[in-house]
Amino acid sequence: MPTIRIPSSHGAYRVFCSRGALARAESAIEGLGDSTGTFVLSSPNVWRHWGRTLAKRVRGVRANRTFLFDDSESAKNLATVELLCRALSQAGADRRAVIVAVGGGVVGDVAGFTAASYLRGVRLVQVPTTLVAQVDSSVGGKTGVNLPEGKNLVGAFYPPRAVIADFETLATLPHREYRSGLYEIIKYGAIADAELFRFLERHMLPLLRCDPAALAWVIPRCIRIKARVVAQDERESGLREILNFGHTFGHALEAVTGYRRFLHGEAIGWGLYAATLLGLATTRIPESEATRVIRLVASVGPLPRLGAIRAAQLRRILAGDKKARGGRVRWVLPRRIGKVQRGVELPWKLIARTISELAEIDAKARG
Ligand code: GLY
Repeated sequence: MPTIRIPSSHGAYRVFCSRGALARAESAIEGLGDSTGTFVLSSPNVWRHWGRTLAKRVRGVRANRTFLFDDSESAKNLATVELLCRALSQAGADRRAVIVAVGGGVVGDVAGFTAASYLRGVRLVQVPTTLVAQVDSSVGGKTGVNLPEGKNLVGAFYPPRAVIADFETLATLPHREYRSGLYEIIKYGAIADAELFRFLERHMLPLLRCDPAALAWVIPRCIRIKARVVAQDERESGLREILNFGHTFGHALEAVTGYRRFLHGEAIGWGLYAATLLGLATTRIPESEATRVIRLVASVGPLPRLGAIRAAQLRRILAGDKKARGGRVRWVLPRRIGKVQRGVELPWKLIARTISELAEIDAKARG
């Protein structure tokens, strides 16, 4: 079973990633040492599909210490964290408790921030069940919640003690949700791995059909890229910014639409278009390479409509982006397939023009 070791400020942890990896859940949790209770945080939807399997694998689930919460992006907020902390307190969770986050990116981020905050930190195990969570959000220790002012504006770097990514869980994902994870995978190829990018160009159809062999090649490859990056820059003081390729615009788009119109990965799909057009407009990336990025993103299928975007509101949200310094947005732009440049500042005029170009792409896609 592929096992990827990630060094972190809280000690190294392992990512078990394969079909059937859930079989490792119990031993991974036991391997953490003494515990006074295992508390599973998940969502009703995920639990409906995977609760029974998990209950067989993880002690404590049977003892009814499972808390389910709404995993929609619009419920990823401090109110949900408070509810979970209170539920843990009422259930008697103490400092030797282990929190197991079972679900997609929202569950992982909210449960992760709950684990980071409750009693000033209890141990966390991530069990990601979506493609976005398996290749990205469950690894690297970012946890947090949204504010109306912007995405993930409250949170903590809090590495998990183990990650168990079982590809079988992807089988019960709604196709839209699954497809949205493919944009994060394209991101990895574009920022760091030309071979992965070529693989995606050749194998997008099998991937869209959840082909097990294609997934088994792609998912550990993405996690290894993330592992290399966060091992060098856990707290995003430099290199880790490259993982935000497509995210500057994508996050702003999520916020400006109230976290309701786009799944996270879909907003990143639009963000990949935006960053590529900006790279092209600033002659950072040759047209032939930019075309490959645009084509690969388009090959995943149609994105939800951009619709009318209120540019002034978008501009305000961009200025509040976590990477912005003194209100100046720092973009990650492509240089060639597999290489990006971070910390790029751009004039608003260019960004506004790019938004108009995106609106044209949107209109053309609908005929
Ligand atoms: N999702 C970007 C990061 O983990 O840094």
